Amino acid sequence: MKTATILQRTAVDDFYGDVLKGLTASPKYLQSKYFYDATGDALFQQIMHLPEYYLTRSELEILSGQTRDIADALGATPFNLVELGAGDASKSFYLLKELHRRNPEQAYYPIDISENIINHLQRTLPAKLPGLQVQGLRGEYMDMLKAMDYLSARRKVVMFMGSSIGNFTPDEAVKFCRKLREQLQPGDLLLIGFDLRKHPRTILDAYNDRRGVTRDFNLNLLTRINRELKADFDINQFDHFPVYDPISGACKSYLISRADQTVQLGDHSIRFKKDEPVFMEISQKYSLDETRQLAAAAGFRPVQYFFDEKRWFTDVLWELAQTHNCL
Ligand SMILES: C[S@@+](CC[C@H](N)C(=O)[O-])C[C@H]1O[C@@H](n2cnc3c(N)ncnc32)[C@H](O)[C@@H]1O
Repeated sequence: MKTATILQRTAVDDFYGDVLKGLTASPKYLQSKYFYDATGDALFQQIMHLPEYYLTRSELEILSGQTRDIADALGATPFNLVELGAGDASKSFYLLKELHRRNPEQAYYPIDISENIINHLQRTLPAKLPGLQVQGLRGEYMDMLKAMDYLSARRKVVMFMGSSIGNFTPDEAVKFCRKLREQLQPGDLLLIGFDLRKHPRTILDAYNDRRGVTRDFNLNLLTRINRELKADFDINQFDHFPVYDPISGACKSYLISRADQTVQLGDHSIRFKKDEPVFMEISQKYSLDETRQLAAAAGFRPVQYFFDEKRWFTDVLWELAQTHNCL
């Protein structure tokens, strides 16, 4: 297999339509998958290094400290490693390195909506791990996973790290995991990362860092809308406002309009009231029981848990349950 990229062009029309739909809804919202342009990617990489953002450190501890155990758990039968929302793959790199040591022709399929990220991985990974087969798939998680069926029939191990499952509400997460299961065959595995419930202050601080990088990350979506959709947001007129509800486990980020204002988006004038929120992103936290319930509801069976020392985070290996009541 040659190093190559499969591209799904996200039409500007989709972006425009989704933004218009969100900003004319009540309450207003924007979809967090649009955070990731080149600036958004760079800001997220800064977030990963923030002292408050424990998620990356916790998961890195798992992937760098238990690499061999994880690789053993994936089994000896050759497989394609598929990563949903790979980002810079800085954590999964530890596992990739170990798999490449065991099989120098290991195949890796990073899926990401960011073209910038896919290009970066295509460029850098084969240089770091010569022989590694890298095929980037730029597009939506599920579309690209379906596209894989045309590329290879080999067994799949799918990684969904960084607690990206938390960017769905619990109901959406069940639907997403059920769709994921439909794409998998017996023998395939899913390695999925969950940010576990912990002291609410620790969680809230992770989304409200003192340097304001998470604020900039949220505001960057308005800048992207200005640039790509010819809108005229004044980003100084919006505040970043994260909240965490320790009962539901939902951490939600909002932008709050600092004034009565009107923003032009194409032919549409969007009015914001002073103090009006725009919902930006959910980062759902899970108890271990809640992760088990999600697995059962979506037709998976947890086979092995990997924890960091503080047990703040878990990467869990799920296999397909033999039978379940939702298919
Ligand atoms: C929070 S980052 C996590 C990156 C990496 N998995 C990690 O743990 O560090 C989420 C990544 O998923 C990608 N992404 C977000 N929504 C997506 C979608 N709907 N389809 C494909 N990729 C998506 C983003 O571009 C970004 O690189």
